[in-house]
Amino acid sequence: MQIQIKKTDSPKLKPDETHLGFGIHFTDHMLNMDYTVDRGWHHPRIEPYGPFVLNPATMVLHYGQGIFEGLKAYRTDSGDIQLFRPRENFERLAKSAQLLCMPPIDVDQALEAMRTLLRIEQDWVPREPGTSLYIRPTMIATDPFLGVRASHTYRFFIILSPVGAYYPQGFNPVKILVTREHVRTVRGGLGCAKTMANYAASLLAGQKAEQEGYTQVLWLDGIEQKYVEEVGSMNIFFVIDDELITPMLNGSILSGITRKSVLQLARRWGIPATERRISIDEVIDANRSGKLTEVFGSGTAAVISPVSELKYEDNILSVGDGKVGPVAQRLFDTLTGIQYGRGKDEFGWTEPAL
Ligand SMILES: Cc1ncc(COP(=O)(O)O)c(C=O)c1O
Repeated sequence: MQIQIKKTDSPKLKPDETHLGFGIHFTDHMLNMDYTVDRGWHHPRIEPYGPFVLNPATMVLHYGQGIFEGLKAYRTDSGDIQLFRPRENFERLAKSAQLLCMPPIDVDQALEAMRTLLRIEQDWVPREPGTSLYIRPTMIATDPFLGVRASHTYRFFIILSPVGAYYPQGFNPVKILVTREHVRTVRGGLGCAKTMANYAASLLAGQKAEQEGYTQVLWLDGIEQKYVEEVGSMNIFFVIDDELITPMLNGSILSGITRKSVLQLARRWGIPATERRISIDEVIDANRSGKLTEVFGSGTAAVISPVSELKYEDNILSVGDGKVGPVAQRLFDTLTGIQYGRGKDEFGWTEPAL
């Protein structure tokens, strides 16, 4: 694959690494590539970061045919830059593409394109503890056409954003509202794809939770509203009676790469780790009987996000006295250790970014 490179004449000033926030700053360059039926994916190019000019009829703006990914590049203590299971993000992108009738991109080509961009932008990978360079590969439908059908043309792009430590002051357990009023997705829908509509569908419930003083929503299944699915935009885990339980992938849950890593680590440590249906009633019962010792979310942004309280209708469940549980802490320390190259990477999850 021949990637055309056009560098910027006016590089930006780098932001203060101690106040990066998330998704606010963007680097100097981006990768673009186009798809047409005749040529397939073609013309990969790295260009100065900048706005697109889009016809107002561009299909993604009307029908939401768009997908994306999220992964990070980490700077190790020795100054190297590494990635965590990056192939799996591009494999998931290809699965999302299939579900939205979009043309998948060859995983090796996408990885090569991302690495080329990272090589050019390597100075943008921050050095402060806990910071990283967030990578956002995105694919959008670009036919200028009004009418519901799959587009015939697409744009793929990758943008990069230096992001701050998720927990600058240490772990911060969150309070979660279990919603029955709203559902994120249903089996047979798009829940297992990383597509724009799922995030749009989550906004109103998220806002209502915030108004009630909760950080995020815990989603129940869209059919019976009985079984736990995800928390905010993370996968969810429970520790009940020393067993780690997470909802099994059922078509409406995103197959998180952190989720998979958590399961692999727990099993390696001899913690029974089960993927099965788990109802909110079972969680409440386990809390009442004192068997529910930990609840936490997992995802690329926060890695592990401990939950200190769950509210479900009239029940308020306090989990683990508001403190971070030992399983969540060990997983967080181990995963971040591997990502930043401080801990032993027994599974071979990391690879050099450049
Ligand atoms: C809806 C949803 N679930 C779960 C996850 C966690 O996935 P991962 O661990 O691959 O970041 C994410 C974030 O990517 C997400 O958006």
